[in-house]
Amino acid sequence: MHAVGIVAAAGSGLRLGAELPKALVHLGGRPLVCWAVESLRAGGVEQVVVAVPAPQQAAFTAVLPDDVHVVVGGDTRTASVRAALGAAREHADAVLVHDAARPLTPPDVVARVLAALAAGARAVVPVLPVVDTTVVVDGDGVVTADVPRAPLRRVQTPQGFDRATLVAAYAHAHGTAAEFTDDASVVRAAGIPVQTVAGDERAAKITVAHDLRMAELQTEWPR
Ligand code: CTP
Ligand code: MG
Repeated sequence: MHAVGIVAAAGSGLRLGAELPKALVHLGGRPLVCWAVESLRAGGVEQVVVAVPAPQQAAFTAVLPDDVHVVVGGDTRTASVRAALGAAREHADAVLVHDAARPLTPPDVVARVLAALAAGARAVVPVLPVVDTTVVVDGDGVVTADVPRAPLRRVQTPQGFDRATLVAAYAHAHGTAAEFTDDASVVRAAGIPVQTVAGDERAAKITVAHDLRMAELQTEWPR
């Protein structure tokens, strides 16, 4: 199985509040996007395509390895992945889509996603259980219902797909008004079942400054 990796790195990182786009922010001495590319490769992905913000294309090219293909992303994550998918190698039979914002994803997670695809899954996502009590609130912030958490899962990346399935699902989604926050939602909207494998807390997404501080601590722990 030939797998191509797509790293979505074209966001601005408003909630992190750095002066740079989030994917260029340093963790343990190198940009988040470099960590994300490295973890895909360490897990078994060969070619990597990275979607970047147009104004910083040169800055991304300067920090990424020469054999990484850089494309300009779009206004939404979905548009960025769509742009990278267009540049992904035709003869790859699997695609793994990963967030640059998940720099410390262990290669084992990547390997589990690849193994599920090799075993025949058309779409697979790494997930973790929900550990907090989870409720529904009304417009005034009053709790109106408890949500049984046993069947709930938090979804991480990289998310893996049969390439033709992902390309067809993105074509299906084109022009719809739906907002997608990940690629499995695009695939599910096209009626394709999505399987799960075990995620990892270390694959947590860096969204706010606290998350970056926690990741800095992790880089100091033995892995
Ligand atoms: N992303 C992207 N293109 C966009 C928006 C987001 O490639 N137009 C990528 C981000 O670079 C990130 C991943 O999607 O790696 C997850 O998005 P998020 O954590 O929301 O990152 P940002 O959109 O950059 O952050 P914020 O929403 O705080 O601005
Ligand atoms: Mg965002």
